Amino acid sequence: MIDALPLNDPATWRHLPATSTPVDHARVAELMAAEWERFTASTPGSGAHNERASKSLPLGVTSSFQHWDPYPISIVSARGAWLTDVDDRKLLDLSMGFGAMLVGHLNPAIVASVNEALEKTGTLFVTPSPSATEVAERYQERFGLDRLRFTNSGTEATMYAVRTARAYTGRKAIVKLEGGYHGGYDGLSVSVKPAVADAGPQAAPTPVTPFDVEAGTVYVVPYNDIDRLREVFEAHRGEIAALVMEPVMENIGIVLPDAGYLAAVRTACDEFDVVLIFDEVKTGLTAGYAGAARRLGVEPDLITLAKSIGGGLPLAAFGGRAEVMQAVVDNRMAHFGTYNGNPLVMAAARAVDEVCTREALDAAEAVNDGALRAIDAIIAEFDLPAHTVGLGVKGAVTWSPAPVRNYRDYKRTDFEIAELSWLWGVNRGVLTPPGLDEQWLVSLAHTTADMDLLVATFRELAEALRA
Ligand SMILES: Cc1ncc(COP(=O)(O)O)c(C=O)c1O
Repeated sequence: MIDALPLNDPATWRHLPATSTPVDHARVAELMAAEWERFTASTPGSGAHNERASKSLPLGVTSSFQHWDPYPISIVSARGAWLTDVDDRKLLDLSMGFGAMLVGHLNPAIVASVNEALEKTGTLFVTPSPSATEVAERYQERFGLDRLRFTNSGTEATMYAVRTARAYTGRKAIVKLEGGYHGGYDGLSVSVKPAVADAGPQAAPTPVTPFDVEAGTVYVVPYNDIDRLREVFEAHRGEIAALVMEPVMENIGIVLPDAGYLAAVRTACDEFDVVLIFDEVKTGLTAGYAGAARRLGVEPDLITLAKSIGGGLPLAAFGGRAEVMQAVVDNRMAHFGTYNGNPLVMAAARAVDEVCTREALDAAEAVNDGALRAIDAIIAEFDLPAHTVGLGVKGAVTWSPAPVRNYRDYKRTDFEIAELSWLWGVNRGVLTPPGLDEQWLVSLAHTTADMDLLVATFRELAEALRA
């Protein structure tokens, strides 16, 4: 059966196990109970901090993604690949700000550039400035964009990209992927993580809209299903402004495109005159020197960027073909923002662009590949029902022996073992992102020795699962 499924795009990483034996779930439950006890015993400072923080901040956090039950770990400082928590424990950071800290915490080149802006240049002019133009020119070159604009968050970038597509096409409806996350814009908040019971058939998902969202007309399609996409385009011909998608889905683990899928998407968008928007907020520089689109060889009409390009400062951008971005020039799409392209963030962006050379990113990717290979070997040795996936400097273990090609496959993976595996790492000083649907990131600051810690904790978990 598995052999009959299409292969993943050759520019991505997926290694499936030849065989696997199920894990005993009574054992998982037993280990999980012990690990939660260990967690609360070793993190009293985080528990106390959450209690205090919850009195001013809902859930005690500044973004709901940061929360987990009973409470998340609170961090006081970070340098390179390491975090220090309020209990003065050192943790290897493999979340790296959900992938935003690609250059490493307090990267000296970014610190120097930002310090220079703080001491000599200024933080905000709200006027044109060569500092913003220079970064725009660098992105034109690196990402192959005719025109672009800066924003402050990925949410803003995807919102403005959608509006640009609407203004350009004179149409309103959008199509998105089931399970696709793109930030807080209403139109893109449909079917982000719908309960399967509410979401209709796998092959033709029903859009699921949270009560507080006013989405407009949004159609939802499964990833890696070109036939369904074409059906939706055909049924709503002349109505659809844009297809918004991550080229590689990175908010439900890492879900890879089948070989040829993205090229077929491009063809369908051309045929039906739909603007193709690649949301590269997460992929961006973490997928390689010029982002996922260029790595995978498919050119969208617009892309959105955020996270890794800012070096830890709030920076995002949207841009692409001149003809589409003309809607910004002639003000069919009004784009505003006091802080857009401010000199402080631009100083960081220029330094990030300078340090993220092909060589530096390739070296980090080689470290990631080494960790993925080592984990593959452990999966094989212990016959685990799991496999590795990766793109560029990111990787993840998917707790399923079969490939995950869309949201419904993802929902069938083993979330209990995924939670245990995450908690196991946290309790041993290796912090991967909370939420079980994220991935680790090898930053420019991570070494092979750092990644060996991840591999060692994974081996220890495998031993405990099979004990
Ligand atoms: C693919 C994608 N798009 C957009 C966003 C929103 O970005 P921000 O949190 O900067 O608003 C995110 C955030 O995680 C994301 O993963």
